[in-house]
This record gives sequence, C-alpha cells and structure tokens, in this order.
Amino acid sequence: MAENLNRRKFLSIATSLTSAVGGIFAVGAFVSTFQPSKKAKALGASIKVSLSKLEPGSIIKVIYRGKPIWVLRRTDEMISELDNENSYLRDPKSELSIQPDFAKNKFRSKNPEFFVVEGVCTHLGCAPIEKFAIAPADMGPDWKGGFYCPCHGSKFDLSGRVYAGVPAPSNLRVPAHNFIDETTLLVGENS
Ligand code: FES
Repeated sequence: MAENLNRRKFLSIATSLTSAVGGIFAVGAFVSTFQPSKKAKALGASIKVSLSKLEPGSIIKVIYRGKPIWVLRRTDEMISELDNENSYLRDPKSELSIQPDFAKNKFRSKNPEFFVVEGVCTHLGCAPIEKFAIAPADMGPDWKGGFYCPCHGSKFDLSGRVYAGVPAPSNLRVPAHNFIDETTLLVGENS
C-alpha cells in the first residue's frame, strides 16, 4: 500500500514538474516581451512560479540561478506534524541556518501551506529525495515525513530542518522569495 502511495505521489510530482517547467517558459516569453523595470534588472532575473495546479502533498521543482528550488504544498496533516516534539532536530528554531527573516519559524515559510526550499543537501551538495510517507519501512517507525539525502544519510523534516547526528550541519536553505498573490510565487526577492 505504501508502495502504491509512493508511486502515485511520484506520478503526481512528475505531472506537476512538467506543468511548472511549462510555466517557467511561459514566464520567460512574457519577460522577453515586456522590458523589466530598472529595479528588476538590478535584482537579477527573479522568476515567477504558478502554484495554481500544485496539489496538497505534492512538490514542484524549478531552477533558479543554477540551483534547484522546490515548492512543497503541505497538507494539513503535514503541517500538524511540525507541531510535534522536535528534540531530534539539530537547529529546530533555525537560528544557525539560512532563510529570510520571515521564514525563521517552525514552518520556515511565510505561509505554512507552501514551503520553498533549495533542493541541495547542506553537507556536500547532493540532492535529497522526498520521503513524505509517515513511518515507511525504509525510514523506520519514528519517521514523520521529510527529505532524505542518499549520499551520506542526512535527514530533514518537512520544514527542511536537519536531524541531529547526521553529516549535514544545518537546515536546508530557504531562498529569497515572496508571494505576488495566493498562487503566484516570486523566487529571488523577499519583498
Ligand atoms: S551530501 Fe547529503 S549527507 Fe552528504
């Protein structure tokens, strides 16, 4: 059953990814049609990402300045898991980790529903993989969902907070970002 769930989630992710890439190309066409403002030029090429088709429990992945940026739309259950005991985390309050000021909270986001994060392990830069199911056989009965780095076994929760006792020294980085409206994300600017 867990395998079927994971497979369905994978297919959903693949579909969402295709949509997101299409969205990025559409934005590129828009930008090339209309001149960006001086402010936009000074800030570099921020990108817009439409979240309108992102289903709860799914993730989309885009590239910003050569880095993978992931957007997870957390379910209510995922959000509630972040209220649980967190003594197993190395930096639960994100005091030693990198994120915008508004994301220095247990959700590491402005809106708990949407989690925006760099998909790069803070140990040696591998790509963590999604492990959203609770207590799957390969992660053990205490696993509450999160990200797992297959290179050296680092674990992160659904806010990208690193577990204690793994090689990664800090939480996954949260990039500068902002929401233009309820379903449009701007990656690259905090305001
Ligand atoms: S690169 Fe992720 S644990 Fe080493």
